[in-house]
Amino acid sequence: MTLGAGNDEIQKQIDHLFSSILVEQKTINKVKGADPGKESMAKKLLEDYGDNRGRGFIFDNLSTGRGHGPFTEHQDGSVKFDLINGIGINLLGHSHPVYIKSCLEAATYDTLMCGNLQPYGPSKELTKSITDAVDDSRLKHFWFAGSGSFANDLALKLLWQKQSPKYGLIAFNNAFAGRSVATQDITTNPAYREGMPRNLNVSYAPHYDQNNPDGALQNTLDALDKIWNENPDSFCAIMMEIIQGEGGFVFGTKEYYQGVFDWAKSKGIYIWIDEVQSFGRTHELFAFQTFGLQEYVDIVTIAKTLQVGGLLYTEELNPKPGLIAGTFNGSIPSIIAGSKVVKFLTEGNFYGQNGRIKQIEETFIGKLQDLMAGSCKGKIKYAGGIGTMIAFEVGNSDKEDTWKFIRKLFENGIVAFSAGRGPVRVRFLLPISLKDEHIDEIFQILEKTVHEVF
Ligand SMILES: Cc1ncc(COP(=O)(O)O)c(C=O)c1O
Repeated sequence: MTLGAGNDEIQKQIDHLFSSILVEQKTINKVKGADPGKESMAKKLLEDYGDNRGRGFIFDNLSTGRGHGPFTEHQDGSVKFDLINGIGINLLGHSHPVYIKSCLEAATYDTLMCGNLQPYGPSKELTKSITDAVDDSRLKHFWFAGSGSFANDLALKLLWQKQSPKYGLIAFNNAFAGRSVATQDITTNPAYREGMPRNLNVSYAPHYDQNNPDGALQNTLDALDKIWNENPDSFCAIMMEIIQGEGGFVFGTKEYYQGVFDWAKSKGIYIWIDEVQSFGRTHELFAFQTFGLQEYVDIVTIAKTLQVGGLLYTEELNPKPGLIAGTFNGSIPSIIAGSKVVKFLTEGNFYGQNGRIKQIEETFIGKLQDLMAGSCKGKIKYAGGIGTMIAFEVGNSDKEDTWKFIRKLFENGIVAFSAGRGPVRVRFLLPISLKDEHIDEIFQILEKTVHEVF
């Protein structure tokens, strides 16, 4: 335990508070419908909030701050399975001991935010644990960033400085890199940058084609050659989500990535992996480790599951002083949580072919395939994904059918989201706190919902 102000009495009270909070949170342990008496009050709260921020919300789900494991409680009194957890923030599950302890420990510190001129012990610890976790690669340094988008902005700056004046970037169709002034130009969905000027020079190649595994690599390489030949020697890097998050959990094989990255190396450009969504969620801590790509990576961006953003880079990419800095270097609770998350994940039995994450993946995909072949034949069209990133298609695999289904799923007790634009998929970013009995109940709700909607 890392405390700021600490003595035996404080320690005792922290232990006591920790247990009391956990015991109380653990009472949120099953799906439950809204309380009729609370429904209109909850709607009004969210409407007022929406009015103040200028836009309503996708779901009626203002949280009460209570939840445990996969369960989340909303102001209308309902409790639901949270299978998207804020688009991938709470991999460990609601009110996980790691999160509660981190906040209690942080309360003993003399301030809330770490700053560039105000480093703290927990920042040092997190930097050490995350760099130790990649000691099988050439990645050597870690720098904090306020979000996934900001981590990506910083990555771009390192690459530009090193490769100046080669400012072009190669990315992939259906990429999502964030919504900052720079990253909105890498993100391909035009709806996310309506009315925005183009600031970056980004060229796009097709990612792995799940419908044409044999031709996928050649298809990508042909496009890369074309991009290169049109503007030779003008690119600083190739940027890739190994598992495309917003793109619908599209991912390739080790051989595919090796082929693409060998191409990049042959052209002398850097390899930048965006793991903002995939960090922690596949069969190793990093997706690039899951696919055995350690020798290739030059720069990797992370956020979400870590509770704070940041980027890992090689010695070669260490920027000159002055290029990257900022007032905030993460909040103390988030940074304490970041180290604990890394420790919890790497020391527990989560990774590898026999780890819990692989088991969750196999159970979900297996059960979805059973539904596809059985009672939901013709209504569920595709089931796939990797680790805790699971996606499937319903109805016509378009936006209308997918959202009709997701909204009904929400009413029936599961919070999910969509991914991809053609096909559109139902997306789960599963918490690792799921137990087998939860999964059984989730599938009963899924099957019922499919029949209600289609
Ligand atoms: C792959 C990827 N990169 C970058 C981002 C942007 O991260 P943030 O929303 O924290 O700015 C996201 C967010 O969903 C993402 O999935």
